[in-house]
Amino acid sequence: MRKILVTSALPYANGSIHLGHLVEYLQTDIWVRHQKMSNNHCTYICADDAHGTPIMLKARELNITPEKLIEKSKKEHVEDFTDFHIEFDNYHTTHSEENKMLSELIYNNLKDKGVIERREIEQYYDENEEMFLPDRYIKGTCPKCGENDQYGDSCEKCGATYSSTEVINPISVISNSKPIKKKTEHLFFKLSDYEKFLSEWLTDSRVQKEIHNKMKEWLSDGLSSWDITRDKPYFGFSIPGEKEKFFYVWLDAPVGYIASFKNLCDKNSIDYLSSWKKDSEVELYHFIGKDIAYFHVLFWPSMLEGAGFRTPTSVFCHGFLTIDGEKMSKSRGTFIKARTYLNHLNPEYLRYYFASRLTSKIEDIDLNFNDFIARVNSDLIGKVINIGSRCARFINKDFDNKLASKSNNQSLIAKILEKKSAIQTNYENRDFSKNIRIISSLADDVNKYIDDEKPWIKIKNKENSEIVHEVCSDGINMFRVLVGYLKPVLPNITENVEKLLRCTPIDWYNIDQLIFEEKIETFKPIITRIDEKSIEIIKSEARED
Ligand code: 2FM
Ligand code: ZN
Repeated sequence: MRKILVTSALPYANGSIHLGHLVEYLQTDIWVRHQKMSNNHCTYICADDAHGTPIMLKARELNITPEKLIEKSKKEHVEDFTDFHIEFDNYHTTHSEENKMLSELIYNNLKDKGVIERREIEQYYDENEEMFLPDRYIKGTCPKCGENDQYGDSCEKCGATYSSTEVINPISVISNSKPIKKKTEHLFFKLSDYEKFLSEWLTDSRVQKEIHNKMKEWLSDGLSSWDITRDKPYFGFSIPGEKEKFFYVWLDAPVGYIASFKNLCDKNSIDYLSSWKKDSEVELYHFIGKDIAYFHVLFWPSMLEGAGFRTPTSVFCHGFLTIDGEKMSKSRGTFIKARTYLNHLNPEYLRYYFASRLTSKIEDIDLNFNDFIARVNSDLIGKVINIGSRCARFINKDFDNKLASKSNNQSLIAKILEKKSAIQTNYENRDFSKNIRIISSLADDVNKYIDDEKPWIKIKNKENSEIVHEVCSDGINMFRVLVGYLKPVLPNITENVEKLLRCTPIDWYNIDQLIFEEKIETFKPIITRIDEKSIEIIKSEARED
């Protein structure tokens, strides 16, 4: 039995979960469910990312305390995740006692190692608001191409990145005033001390090819020290031993992975630290979006290494979500919140569709609504679910709910079961789309078998009763295996099928045990087809949200 610790990136506590976020949580949840079906000891950890300037400002705008805002967000996030059947073993917040203690511990260890340096820097300061301005809160003219109204760190027109002090005619986004340059003392993490460690840590299984190449590039350019300080006012943890200085949110955010795990372990009187010690046998995987690879493959492993903790086994990156081929956009009605979707559509539709698009690559994935409707209505419902409904009706009506004592088509059953190991490998490798294709093609085979046997005609003649019984029982057994193959993707549908068949919860060990002569329940519709109108309603609500 493998011991596995899995995380998804921690969502910020100042906004709602939307379909873009869900790519990652669904990808991780499917992977974790596969591990649990393999009887591995797998723990899925997450939390809200509760600190930083945007959260502080959002709370001000709403005229509530940051604590109130993050409490509300966490509640909303947990409800959204739960309703999408994303099953964390623990969901915590980075604004917690555990996280404060661990962030301080890691910082102190790094300080003791001599890898924290102190330097005076110059930053833009908003005199009206009495605060230093993060790059995103400065706008001005691009120093490279002269385009107006660009952010303080990069230009959307020419793609250049630069330091905010290079921006021409800077303006504070918060007060619309002209900021001044002001000196401040900051603490930095000396990342260059970890170049050797990082190049050794970087092996083929650690990260995907694209990230591997990117890392080699970063490492050969040389790593600059990382500013881990923010001045007041800031919503975060104070840096021990410093006056009015706070940890930058990106320091304590990943520590939140350990903190959430500690919170879970404490509730169960388990030692959390052994999983984070250097020689731990536990595998540690982080699922993240490609935009935050830098933090997870450079800063985070170096922080852990420096502080004497174990480092990640692998970091798995995914691409962004596009909708109908374009970036999500409010005006097109494609910036869809999780809750807006849930108000109109079954979460398992989206789980199935994302699974049908997800691979181990970092490519963006597209949610095309016509394709979404076709895959769910024709493939999932029209092929897979159809097997159960057409066969169960005969078993219920003509055979007193009882399955036959033997099979009429062992070769087809064998063909289906033969795919088990490929399916497990594909889940393990995050190649979910391959599985959806295999399962859909097997469902075609089963439907063809039933079509060829024509039980609805044969049942009219009493002499055919036995063969109809066997064909429909075969259908039910094959249906059980196919739904079992989809269990990591469709937990709710699988549970309903397990109830219908009165069978023990399906896992990778019992999936090939066929059921004969057992009674099943009366068939009830498991899932209805997508009504196209719901998509238009969702889009129009998303424009208002
Ligand atoms: O990019 C984000 O949404 C961050 N809140 C992710 C943090 S992941 C981890 F490091 F905490
Ligand atoms: Zn420019």
